[in-house]
Amino acid sequence: MEFTRGKQLAARLRQLVPGGCHTYAKGDDQYPELAPALIARGNGCHVWDVDGNPFIEYGMGLRAVTLGHAYPAVVEAVRACLDRGTNFTRPAPEELACAEAFLALIDGADMVKFTKDGSTAASAALKLARRHTGRDLVAICAEHPFFSYDDWFICTTTADGGIPRVVYEQTVQFRYNDLASLRAQFAAHPGQIAAVFLEPARLEDPAPGFLEGLVALCHAEGALAVFDETITGFRWHLRGAQGLYGVVPDLSIFGKAMANGFSQSALAGKREFMHWGGRDRPDEDVFLLSTTHGVETPALVAAIATMEIYRSEPVVEHLHRVGARLADGLRQASLRHGLLAYVEPVGRPCNLFFSTRDPAGKPSQPFRTLFLQELIKRGVLGPSFVVSYSHQDEDIDRTIDAVDGALGVYARAIAAGTVDGLLVGSPSRPVFGRR
Ligand SMILES: Cc1ncc(COP(=O)(O)O)c(C=O)c1O
Repeated sequence: MEFTRGKQLAARLRQLVPGGCHTYAKGDDQYPELAPALIARGNGCHVWDVDGNPFIEYGMGLRAVTLGHAYPAVVEAVRACLDRGTNFTRPAPEELACAEAFLALIDGADMVKFTKDGSTAASAALKLARRHTGRDLVAICAEHPFFSYDDWFICTTTADGGIPRVVYEQTVQFRYNDLASLRAQFAAHPGQIAAVFLEPARLEDPAPGFLEGLVALCHAEGALAVFDETITGFRWHLRGAQGLYGVVPDLSIFGKAMANGFSQSALAGKREFMHWGGRDRPDEDVFLLSTTHGVETPALVAAIATMEIYRSEPVVEHLHRVGARLADGLRQASLRHGLLAYVEPVGRPCNLFFSTRDPAGKPSQPFRTLFLQELIKRGVLGPSFVVSYSHQDEDIDRTIDAVDGALGVYARAIAAGTVDGLLVGSPSRPVFGRR
């Protein structure tokens, strides 16, 4: 495989755009040296880089593309809307249609406000909670890797340049499936915590009673429970993880899977909290998600079309089924190579990851990079194994073959105790560490 043109364009991009990309997770430092640098086009679960190399893709636009790249029904709906104009001086009917379609799925929410990304929606949820409670602090789940690009979250990471000192004092952390750790934060900061943020589930399922207990504890302490469903929304269940687990939060955030890669996210919740962003009462004074591009109609139309497909076709079932097939294939291949202690599937099949451990059994960036390099050589672009509705059994089986080949090389590195001599270039590195 040649990556010549990709390398040239990536070098120019790095000169013009800090980080060489617009999401750090897409950056050059996240991938092996021998990797496609820029993707030119996609179709279903297949992508082609600017050098013309084809790949079966996992990750799917950082999990935004649930149905598949250039999914015909979504593309058609958007194409039809483009001729009608895309942004007007008064609301468009699509805003009503999208709100109705969304709220028909998310039972616990009475109102919704749309915006372009999950970070903005999450920060708006915190603002509402602060207005409602008159408190400043936020408690976030320590194991969950990302809630927002805003300071209230980024201050807990090592990429925290440019954040005022005062912000650090306003974010505290608790542990998933550990109500005692949240109780301890409420006790340490009595009457000060406005909101509790967590993903309802990530790698592990909630322990019985955990989510219910968390919502009850928030209410007993006068705080709002906010579920970040940016990833779980429409992947875990048609009605979100809150639908799957049967627990209603006060506010929730949806994003990624809403519009099959178009830029659309949502802040949703109970009327008693969402109303602060209204204009009917004199005290409704929260400037809530008011932006020029918040609801350009193509993204709304894409969201409506995508949600319609979720309703009418077995999308979530498919994600779970093909994800489970891939998880099983990976586990079997790993077993055959004697590598189960080093490489194994992790997480829910609809949102699959894999571990990449070094000979000492520790998570390893060099070994991860080697695995990615060897998958890429075999036509699989797999920063994770996140599947879409377009991944068919034959794609999964071809991927398992690639995994098998990549694990052969991985086994040699484990036996040698190092990736030296096998990995070309430097190991990738995490976007940031957590404090
Ligand atoms: C759980 C979670 N919340 C929020 C966000 C932020 O979403 P966005 O990148 O659309 O701002 C992400 C992004 O990765 C996420 O994974």
